[in-house]
Amino acid sequence: MPKAKYVKDSHTIMTEMVLPNDTNTLSNLMGGNLMRLVDIAGAICAQKHSNRIVVTASVDHVSFVNPIPLGNVITLEAKITRAFNTSMEVVVDVYSENIPAGTKKKTNQAFLTFVAVDQSGRPIEVSEAIPETEEEKLQFERALHRRQLRLLMAGRLNPEDTESLKQTFFNSPTTI
Ligand SMILES: CC(C)(COP(=O)(O)OP(=O)(O)OC[C@H]1O[C@@H](n2cnc3c(N)ncnc32)[C@H](O)[C@@H]1OP(=O)(O)O)[C@@H](O)C(=O)NCCC(=O)NCCS
Repeated sequence: MPKAKYVKDSHTIMTEMVLPNDTNTLSNLMGGNLMRLVDIAGAICAQKHSNRIVVTASVDHVSFVNPIPLGNVITLEAKITRAFNTSMEVVVDVYSENIPAGTKKKTNQAFLTFVAVDQSGRPIEVSEAIPETEEEKLQFERALHRRQLRLLMAGRLNPEDTESLKQTFFNSPTTI
């Protein structure tokens, strides 16, 4: 397995200004344009962690809490939460800033899964991501549950196969 890396080693920050072509008819950033930026920021983070080509395997838990108006500056902050075998979960937080007004707020959060691949597109092993801060350790723990849920939703996992999902979905005791 490649050498383990710290979460902070692939921390990625991307900044963009919302221009007229990016907006919807209410002059706010269009959701699809935001998702494109989220995907790019997340992919850069996953590439930095794995030093590989990465592909997006899934995007989940995208929340649109506040609209982002024309002229605002958005900052996308991407961090790996956990690396598995060939896949990595990345969380992207989005902040919107009105620089002249001096205001800034968090507008979105998304969790994405990227898979490192070789030149032929075959999945390839990635290094472990080591969490250091309390927040990173919390996200590391939760990433396992999120992975199980997303693989379940994708039809790639049977709830019977994991104890935590078995309890969530069937509310059954762990021992029968
Ligand atoms: C993602 C992809 C490489 C997985 O290929 P695969 O043949 O299913 O490979 P595997 O079964 O070995 O799975 C590889 C990893 O992908 C993960 N994975 C596959 N489908 C997934 C999904 N829907 N959500 C999350 N992870 C997924 C697996 O859990 C596995 O992770 P692990 O190695 O860490 O355990 C393949 O489906 C692909 O190339 N998809 C298209 C990607 C793409 O074009 N993205 C851009 C879309 S516009």
